[in-house]
Amino acid sequence: MSNAAKGSAVITIPGHNQNAELPMLAGTIGPEVLDIRKLYNELGVFTFDPGYGGTASCESKITYIDGDEGVLLYRGYPIEQLAEHSTFLEVACLLLNGELPNDAEFAEFERGVTRHTMLHEQLRSFFNGFRRDAHPMAVLCGVVGALSAFYHDSLDINNPEHRRISAFRLIAKVPTIAAWTYKYSIGQPFMYPRNDLSFAENFLYMMNAVPAEPFKVNPILSRAMDRILILHADHEQNASTSTVRLAGSTGANPFACIAAGIASLWGPAHGGANEAVLKMLEEIGHVDHIPEFIDRVKDKNSNVRLMGFGHRVYKNYDPRAKIMQRTCHEVLGELGVKDDPLLDLAIELERIALSDEYFISKKLYPNVDFYSGIILKAMGFPTSMFTVLFAVARTVGWISQWKEMIEDPSQRIGRPRQLYTGAPMRDFVPRNRRD
Ligand code: CMC
Repeated sequence: MSNAAKGSAVITIPGHNQNAELPMLAGTIGPEVLDIRKLYNELGVFTFDPGYGGTASCESKITYIDGDEGVLLYRGYPIEQLAEHSTFLEVACLLLNGELPNDAEFAEFERGVTRHTMLHEQLRSFFNGFRRDAHPMAVLCGVVGALSAFYHDSLDINNPEHRRISAFRLIAKVPTIAAWTYKYSIGQPFMYPRNDLSFAENFLYMMNAVPAEPFKVNPILSRAMDRILILHADHEQNASTSTVRLAGSTGANPFACIAAGIASLWGPAHGGANEAVLKMLEEIGHVDHIPEFIDRVKDKNSNVRLMGFGHRVYKNYDPRAKIMQRTCHEVLGELGVKDDPLLDLAIELERIALSDEYFISKKLYPNVDFYSGIILKAMGFPTSMFTVLFAVARTVGWISQWKEMIEDPSQRIGRPRQLYTGAPMRDFVPRNRRD
């Protein structure tokens, strides 16, 4: 990998009689980056950035976000264009390999994914070990982690062919596992994948079909599902992706790394927000209760947040939220839902929040999760499956970022330092002499 040095910055720290000259790096777009790698060796100081708000943890060519302008690019292509004109599998190929495929390249990629959609038959028994009421994310996390016990022939991270096959296996098998977590929870037979269907169609089929009768996938719903998958496919160095990279930096196998990413995604501040939005809307219950709810959100002591609002990077409308809102209307139209009280509530909540000084001054806008729950609920997904669906899509981003990291010659184990504020060195005192 390369990054162009654009001059340098001289750092002087009071009380240190030495300066450090640090290179300034420039990406293709985005802010300049101060390269602090020499700082500790030259001046003996660390930098402090809990939450990494001002720290670039790696160099990447995959996804770019301009949070102030509300721009999201996959490999340079605006998310709006990909959502409109591309398909999830084509976007997966783009994220993983760097370029949009031609016909032959796409056919090969599609073959690579579809030939890996089935699970090792012994993996079925894993599901029986879980309680029926287990959260599907718990099951997903466990079964994806278990993949490394089944596919020993693709675990050598230094072998490009192993990396290629592991990537295909993960992209192909996570939807099967995801659908089976749902089938297990409702006590229906597992549906085997159908490789004659598109990625989104096959997922909807495995979720909704039963062996007793034929099932036809609604093309409008599969198109909406495909678009939702595109919107969630990657989002640069968010918490779960950083988790995957950090786990991967130790040389851990890709199945284990993706399981770590799934665990990280589960939290309500990240991928769990779509589930939390729906719970919040149901709790608010009626538009008349919105002002009271907004007051609780603004109360510093309440710990209540407007779920689906705000983002660490976007200080403008999340471009994915706009597409989600449009898709929401399409899906509800197709399903003949004329008045969805939750949608009415969400629209009113958004209107009030966007004109409220609290949200304006803090630059809090709807994010991707604000409307996704309403769409998924209308499509028949239970709330507990919302984050699972996010994980199905994000597996593509995680594995692309993992692969990029492994193939980066400058990659080394991730090992942050700390600002230690504990006790200084002291001597051990035997228990009978402690106060
Ligand atoms: N509702 C009310 N106040 C908020 C919200 C919110 N949703 N988000 C941020 N704030 C306030 C926060 O209280 C703080 O105020 P103050 O400066 O007075 O202390 C200020 O805005 C900055 O918040 P922060 O927590 O320092 O911001 P962050 O960048 O650390 O957090 C976030 C980003 C996404 C975790 C946060 O906005 C949040 O909790 N949002 C709700 C959960 C959510 O929708 N998450 C999905 C994110 S998008 C998809 C994904 O990443 O998976």
